[in-house]
Amino acid sequence: MLKPSSYYLRNPDIIAVGTAGCYLFIDPRGMVFPFTTSSTAAWSVLLQELMQPMDGETFRARLAGLAKADTEISLSMLENGLLLTGANQDALCERRAAILTDNQAYHLEHREPVCEHLVVAVTGSIVAGLMAPAILSLAFCGHQRQLDLILTETALKFTTRNFFESYGIRTWVNPFERRDGINVAHVSLGGSANCILVMPATANALCRIADGACTDLLGLTVAATTAPVVLIPAMNAAMWNSAAVQRNAARLRDDGMYVVEPSLIFKATSVTEGNTMYGGPGTLWRGPLGLMQTVSAVRAHKQNRSPMHANSARLGADADGRERTHQIWPCAGIAARQMSAR
Ligand SMILES: Cc1cc2nc3c(=O)[nH]c(=O)nc-3n(C[C@H](O)[C@H](O)[C@H](O)COP(=O)(O)O)c2cc1C
Repeated sequence: MLKPSSYYLRNPDIIAVGTAGCYLFIDPRGMVFPFTTSSTAAWSVLLQELMQPMDGETFRARLAGLAKADTEISLSMLENGLLLTGANQDALCERRAAILTDNQAYHLEHREPVCEHLVVAVTGSIVAGLMAPAILSLAFCGHQRQLDLILTETALKFTTRNFFESYGIRTWVNPFERRDGINVAHVSLGGSANCILVMPATANALCRIADGACTDLLGLTVAATTAPVVLIPAMNAAMWNSAAVQRNAARLRDDGMYVVEPSLIFKATSVTEGNTMYGGPGTLWRGPLGLMQTVSAVRAHKQNRSPMHANSARLGADADGRERTHQIWPCAGIAARQMSAR
């Protein structure tokens, strides 16, 4: 029950991923909470608003415009710690501010691969260079048997190929480049990838991918794959909330791609001011482990659109009286280990 005088905040440790008709919420233990909704675009806006404490009355009013099932989603989120609640805003803001200090850059524990081939693409956002710890963690911990890194031409303004190649990570920029017996990079990478992770994803990259534009190696590879594509947008709040970017994010979700909901990051263009902004890889507050859990969750979701193993909780019935089941399952491998370690 939402209390009018209480405040609610999206738990900053939760990764929210929107796709066609569904949101996946991934908690720090790697538990995945999939919620079916016909209002993904509305939830995207609401999840952004909930990065500020929202009072219960406003929250209820915001839900009133949505289906009954969406109110149930919010209650289930609350029950499962995906939403935090407090009597005043200050404690919630303090909790949120903890992500600015209590975040994890590296996760280097070596383990058996849970993914054969991961393609990561870095695009030309100001935070492109900040992806290095996550990418190095993916490589060092052996999350996948093969890692390929695509860098857009603009990404090279913010980071270098040499940096990643020095650590043995294979990088690609030009679609006509040939190496290691690979003659047509987009066909080879797109064909064998188990997942494509675009991190960070610029507004421009979202637009190209939503359009199916095959004007660079990233666009070509996404067009040439059947693997799940995970997009982690990073841009300032004005860009993210512009009509065109929101339209593209909605198109991408509707096309079955997985868009990670931005959360607060520092204002990267003027770090000294210490302001926060929307956009940025929300997952990275949880560090590379959160990223690996996201890849596992998305792969499982795309493979089955059903749970890997049922641990389901019947949470009620939808507007038509049909039973609606929300399922909760741990991610494969990594997340299961993380859970058992607790
Ligand atoms: C200093 C600077 C920082 C930028 N940061 C971002 C950003 O964070 N997010 C974004 O969407 N675009 C950003 N842009 C704009 C992109 O670099 C530009 O749209 C570019 O065409 C993206 O190319 P790509 O998507 O092929 O990498 C930035 C531009 C500049 C000059």
